Amino acid sequence: MKTIIEPFKIKSVEPIHFTTIEERTGILREAGYNPFFIHAEDVLIDLLTDSGTSAMSAKQWAGIMDGDESYAGARSFFRFEKVVKELTGFKFIIPTHQGRASEKILFSILGGAGKFIPNNTHFDTTRANVEFSGAEACDLPTEEGVKPEVIADFKGNMNIPALEEFIHEKGPENIPVCMITITNNSGGGQPVSMANIRDTKNVLKKYGILLFIDACRFAENAFFIKMREKGYAGKTPREIAQEMFSYADGCTMSAKKDAIVNMGGFLAMNDEALASSARNLLIVTEGFPTYGGLAGRDLEAIAQGLDEVLDEHYLTYRLRSVEYLGNKLTDAGVPILQPPGGHAIYIDAKRFLPNIPPDQFPGQSIVSELYLVGGIRSVEIGSVMFGKYDSAGNHIPPAMELVRLAIPRRVYTQSHIDYVIECVVEVFNNRQKLPGYKIVYQAPQLRHFTARFEPL
Ligand code: F0G
Repeated sequence: MKTIIEPFKIKSVEPIHFTTIEERTGILREAGYNPFFIHAEDVLIDLLTDSGTSAMSAKQWAGIMDGDESYAGARSFFRFEKVVKELTGFKFIIPTHQGRASEKILFSILGGAGKFIPNNTHFDTTRANVEFSGAEACDLPTEEGVKPEVIADFKGNMNIPALEEFIHEKGPENIPVCMITITNNSGGGQPVSMANIRDTKNVLKKYGILLFIDACRFAENAFFIKMREKGYAGKTPREIAQEMFSYADGCTMSAKKDAIVNMGGFLAMNDEALASSARNLLIVTEGFPTYGGLAGRDLEAIAQGLDEVLDEHYLTYRLRSVEYLGNKLTDAGVPILQPPGGHAIYIDAKRFLPNIPPDQFPGQSIVSELYLVGGIRSVEIGSVMFGKYDSAGNHIPPAMELVRLAIPRRVYTQSHIDYVIECVVEVFNNRQKLPGYKIVYQAPQLRHFTARFEPL
């Protein structure tokens, strides 16, 4: 059969609250044209993030009832530990409340002033935690990885020649660890190939530098490898994931993505001394090492989710449904970052609204219009999020102006996605009427969360 269907039946539903365009006009104005200020109840289709927004399965909910809430040595911890060990092969498994908590612990130990941390592309919390420790975070994407219109199989890859050069320039003694983010979220949800992970490891091995994987979307990455990389078509997603982890010395994980839960994470590694330091910090900041910031029930749900996410029917549906959205938008002429990523479609706002300059925030204009026209919540990843100013106050835009449509796992059906397509195409067809925006309030850091705007 040609049609790929959602590989689940719906047992429990959550009603969507409908609003009119008139109501949304007022809501958007009240929110200062910032989607983070819109109440979730007033959103029809919420594509703000795929993080912590997944639908859990009946078995995960059963795990929630079955969780062992003992302070120390809970049965749920040992189930969680076994599942993560089997999947990653790492010796020491440390639960945390979410991805950034793992990052905070890792870089508190390995970071610090005078240190440099390379990554194919740091996610913003990873960068923030590296910099908070006093170290410098450096992105080393490939050339094709930063060109939105180029179609290639593994645009998330680490730039291997740039990594070698970086190590020579900074000195291996100043680089305690290198991260590789799979899939590369800030680079458009693009996958990293197995060959690239292996090559990264081989470079680092020569200099005695550790490799840690930012594993948030490891299953989506594994399935891209199965579909696109020679020699992997006959392997299971689990075998591919195991091989990916086998090249690394540890990983950070936000379980809010590919463990299909609403909260959770972990830090895993092979080095005993490092694990011991991490556990000591964990006790101060998160909790005792057999729960680390989570309830026993959360550990059960993660263990179950890590199994379900590797199901081929699930992964086929997952990648295909994101690609479906991307292809339909492309067919209608809407410019998007190519090819479609694993968890999101990124609209290329620069080509969508060439008449609106970066300092009038074309991405924010599309975000506002999508909410007005269809009640869809998306997020700008461009000048609002990453724009800088020189000493004379001139705006320095980032390389790309994007709008992310992130797809929560197992939450929306194909007709929801068809509705999203219809709305985006309508906004695109009326793009001449879209205004630029100006910022009327901004915080000194991470301004996108709290900025307020007005249309020009
Ligand atoms: N690493 C990557 C690649 C991520 O995408 C995220 C979160 C984190 C680390 C941090 O994990 O949220 O559990 O602390 N990304 C979310 C997003 C927030 O919307 O892309 P966390």
